[in-house]
Amino acid sequence: MAARQILSESQDREDSLNIDTPSSAPATLIDLLTTRASAIKLVEPGPSEEQLASILKAAVSAADHGRLRPWRFVVIRGDGRRRFGDLLARVQQDADPAASETQLESARAKAMRAPVIIALLCEADPASKVPVIEQQFAAAAAGAHLMLSAKALGFGSNWKTGSAAYHPIVREGLGCGRDGSIIGFFYIGTEPKPSPLARAPIESVVRHWSD
Ligand SMILES: Cc1cc2nc3c(=O)[nH]c(=O)nc-3n(C[C@H](O)[C@H](O)[C@H](O)COP(=O)(O)O)c2cc1C
Repeated sequence: MAARQILSESQDREDSLNIDTPSSAPATLIDLLTTRASAIKLVEPGPSEEQLASILKAAVSAADHGRLRPWRFVVIRGDGRRRFGDLLARVQQDADPAASETQLESARAKAMRAPVIIALLCEADPASKVPVIEQQFAAAAAGAHLMLSAKALGFGSNWKTGSAAYHPIVREGLGCGRDGSIIGFFYIGTEPKPSPLARAPIESVVRHWSD
């Protein structure tokens, strides 16, 4: 089925859900996929309640092994970002007990870099026959859906991990279980200007077995 046809069907569904889509939205799904880039800067406005609901709905539609649905989301926005910033400052203090108030403040400020941050967790089931790493793959696929659906609605995004994603203070603060992991922090907002696309030539990453 042609991409344009798929888009027009999803457009119908979108219309029926009355979701706000910008006129600058890419013309086809392939355009959407091939023009994604990490945002350099993200400002207000962030996605509305309704747009966030569609972004999350797209995320839970990612490919999954065994229908385990291992993804969990913590939507952080408004003053909730200060709570997240406090966790980042505690990580900084743990790494460097002599950190100055200025350094701690700059760690806190990281949480204010976008109107919305979605922390994506994978709550893996180690007893499942699906390997934990594959449960994490599925959760990461949900992360890609988050970014792409945000783009479809006219927003930029950034996937970040850093030491915070692996630190017990953040894991505990976000309610990550013993067998869970943090897949990333997805910063979402409006891009003041689009990021340049940087792609490796297809030939450098693809091998064909055709005979
Ligand atoms: C799993 C993952 C973790 C990432 N962690 C960070 C991070 O901690 N800090 C950061 O600045 N960027 C992070 N990034 C963003 C990439 O470094 C960024 O996407 C890269 O510059 C490539 O740009 P592109 O997405 O426009 O191709 C991460 C991306 C992925 C996929």
